[in-house]
Amino acid sequence: MAAAVAEEEKLYNGGGGGAGKGIAEVNPKPSKGLTSKLIDYLEKLIVKLMYDPNQPLHYLTGNFAPVDESPPVKDLPVKGHLPECLNGEFVRVGPNPKFAPVAGYHWFDGDGMIHGMRIKDGKATYVRRYVRTSRLKQEEYFGGAKFMKVGDLKGLFGLLMVNMHLLRTKLKVLDVSYGNGTGNTNLIYHHGKLLALQEADKPYVVKVLEDGDLQTIGLLDYDKRLKHSFTAHPKVDPFTGEMFTFGYSHEPPYVTYRVISKDGFMHDPVPITVSGPIMMHDFAITENYAVFMDLPLYFRPKEMVKEKKFIFTFDGTKKARFGVLPRYAKDELLIRWFELPNCFIFHNANAWEEGDEIVLITCRLQNPDLDMINGTVKKQLECFTNELYKMRFNMKTGVATQKKLSESAVDFPRVNESYTSRKSSVNVIDAKTMSADPVAVVELPHRVPYGFHAFFVTEEQLQEQSHL
Ligand SMILES: [Fe+2]
Repeated sequence: MAAAVAEEEKLYNGGGGGAGKGIAEVNPKPSKGLTSKLIDYLEKLIVKLMYDPNQPLHYLTGNFAPVDESPPVKDLPVKGHLPECLNGEFVRVGPNPKFAPVAGYHWFDGDGMIHGMRIKDGKATYVRRYVRTSRLKQEEYFGGAKFMKVGDLKGLFGLLMVNMHLLRTKLKVLDVSYGNGTGNTNLIYHHGKLLALQEADKPYVVKVLEDGDLQTIGLLDYDKRLKHSFTAHPKVDPFTGEMFTFGYSHEPPYVTYRVISKDGFMHDPVPITVSGPIMMHDFAITENYAVFMDLPLYFRPKEMVKEKKFIFTFDGTKKARFGVLPRYAKDELLIRWFELPNCFIFHNANAWEEGDEIVLITCRLQNPDLDMINGTVKKQLECFTNELYKMRFNMKTGVATQKKLSESAVDFPRVNESYTSRKSSVNVIDAKTMSADPVAVVELPHRVPYGFHAFFVTEEQLQEQSHL
């Protein structure tokens, strides 16, 4: 009997005694001691000599300021009526640093915290939990910030701080065998699992419990088939159940494309050649193609040091390139590249096929500047022109065109996910009955800081992942 149970558990855990099939338990092994203290001392010295402590850290003030975790708070006051048919959990992730930075801090740097609103049978529960990453676990072990921050990557100081990180990893003060991401960017549901994503890392599996609580299960490496980073914006085709994804890197191959089957199998990597080490935040799929964006926002560590620039700099002399690849291609031989005037894009809304053309609805930025850490955030944001565009790539003629659809500022678009990769329909609504009034307003017990992306886990999905 005991042997049978053990065998069953073995199967359940994917044979490895880990957190589940394809999921790796995250148990980093950092080390305290003299080496760690010496590096801390050296870092303090560098910060004291080179970093101006009077620089304002806007991303830690106002509603950017971090909050503590909260266990589920039940039976929240509801004005109006939560429909009985609306069951599931609304989850939103964002950066929420647990420890104060040693020097600079960029909005991208914070530990991922998920805010959840469990709705069931007309009642609402609120909870917030950290994504328990390898990075967070190690900083908890040290009781302070130890990992490199994007907010420090400027000028010679940036180079020295990169070297502090390299020293910590080389001398095994920090353990980066489970990556060094924060899980702070996006949430997606695929193959019975809710995933917390950040583009420099692998996905973290987060289980949504019946009472609304959120529990980090482990790192998803697809039975060790995933060896590179994983975008925060994979696409799930609602018609086939497959997930399409990619990762980008500062070393060749700069981009690697992957297809994950409906049953969770990750197919072989497809390297994609782009113009250099770029930032690629999003991509798109259509019924038959994947669309990659080779946009001139480059990782340039040399310029960072020489010209005191931010580590990612926009090259206004280069064109924007869009690559269209048959989505089950085994290599990049059939990719077609299209050129348009330069821009940067964080987020696409959707893409589809129309005759010989691929149509992409996207949020186009004219003058991207990720160095929004100096000066006031508001002033920097005003320089952003972020407009909704329709781009067309003609597979027969090789011609690309674009048309502006909106004024600034439009970003973080969402479409009904049952239309991902397909043309969305236009709904005609009776204006007489369309009311802007909410059906229900739930009062939250705590402040919710600004964050990134959100997702609704349906009751069906919540029950499906209960075996995790
Ligand atoms: Fe995003």
